[in-house]
Amino acid sequence: MSQTPPPHTPGPDASGTGLATWIDRRLPILSGFRAEYIDFRMPINLNGLWNFGAILTILLLLMLASGLFLAMTYTPTAQDAFASIETIERELPSGWLIRGMHMTGASLFMAALYIHIFRGLYYGSYKAPRELLWLTGLVMLLMSMITAFAGYVLPWGQMSYWGADVATKAIGAIPAIGPTLEHITTGSDHLGTIFLHRLFVLHFLMAFGIVAVVVAHVAALHVTGPNNPTGIEPKTERETVPFHPYFTTKDLIGIALFALVFVTLMFFCPDWVAEAENSLPANPMQTPADIEPEWYFLPFYGLLQSVPSKFGGLVAAIGAIAVLFAVPWLDRSPIRSARYRPVFRTGVWVMILSFFLLGLTGKHHAEGIWHLIGPLATLTYFAFYLVLLPLCPRIETTRPLPDTIAPTP
Ligand code: HEM
Repeated sequence: MSQTPPPHTPGPDASGTGLATWIDRRLPILSGFRAEYIDFRMPINLNGLWNFGAILTILLLLMLASGLFLAMTYTPTAQDAFASIETIERELPSGWLIRGMHMTGASLFMAALYIHIFRGLYYGSYKAPRELLWLTGLVMLLMSMITAFAGYVLPWGQMSYWGADVATKAIGAIPAIGPTLEHITTGSDHLGTIFLHRLFVLHFLMAFGIVAVVVAHVAALHVTGPNNPTGIEPKTERETVPFHPYFTTKDLIGIALFALVFVTLMFFCPDWVAEAENSLPANPMQTPADIEPEWYFLPFYGLLQSVPSKFGGLVAAIGAIAVLFAVPWLDRSPIRSARYRPVFRTGVWVMILSFFLLGLTGKHHAEGIWHLIGPLATLTYFAFYLVLLPLCPRIETTRPLPDTIAPTP
């Protein structure tokens, strides 16, 4: 009787003897790791913008680790939340450092995320066959925004409270289902312990949920391989190098440079990532003179204020992210990279400028000249996605693509 062959061929680490081989024959994590993170072939022409995925991964780990330590002391009740943060800052050994890392990390995570997204847009990394990479990324963007928003409310300072007040009232402005949704979010008729407890659970859950999506994101990346600044696929071995040592070294350099910015911000400019008003405990009886979200939400705050009706503003703010989900299908051009697409390239820069101007509109509460700039930036932001992207293939004369991504000798 012939024997059935084993269903899987053992990986390279399964050839010898010893414990590692024994494990690898049964669970090929070692050979899998070797194939995905050591031998995996990468295009040779990736620039520094391709470091941001690794930077985001490290930042996420730092956020989870520091968050876990904060959660050991933090108390999610309206009475004690603010005082528990004070205890962390003043009494817990190195508590100020752990909280500093978590706050600086939140701001820089969002900054790195924006750079990572704009890189993807500029080089057309969302195009086939990388649509799922783009979509899993957007799911993480949403989850990160929810996590960041919930995290900002937890210290229960003045800005935490009033920021949450604006957000929950915006939910309440949705026609028909708004009031019910607002009640589900707040859990009662006022913002207090029930609401804070919900946000604490949400913050914790989403943060770990992001890790699961990162796994899917990176798995999808390893199916297609990375895009590169030319947007053309490598065809020969000469155009690629193994991940290790080339990209382990390059990613480490990127992470070290980013860490330098991180510690400079954390130690020398802590007020850049913290709002002074939030050092005061929440007071439902006293509205701050200026209610303003964290910098990374300002463009969406600008959108809320640039559209005349409250509900219209909410649709615009949600639409600004929703439209990103359609990008792989809105852009039908056969060329990926903006390098060879002059009209698309100008469009991307105008869209980035509009996003920035919307942030400034949010900061200035759409007053004075911002009353005009806000709606204009809203228009150009959406026109890029809904008009220029579908129109581009018809109106654009693209530049010739190179034959290879390898530098010419
Ligand atoms: C928690 C957040 C995220 C993490 C940890 C993460 C991680 C990574 C990593 C490690 C890579 C490979 C290295 C690189 O290309 O930089 C990558 C690639 C990529 N990511 Fe993300 N990502 C995140 C969020 C996003 C978001 C929000 C988007 C877009 C909506 C996105 C879209 C992409 C795309 C399209 C690629 C392939 C890029 C290319 O090869 O040109 N990612 N990501």
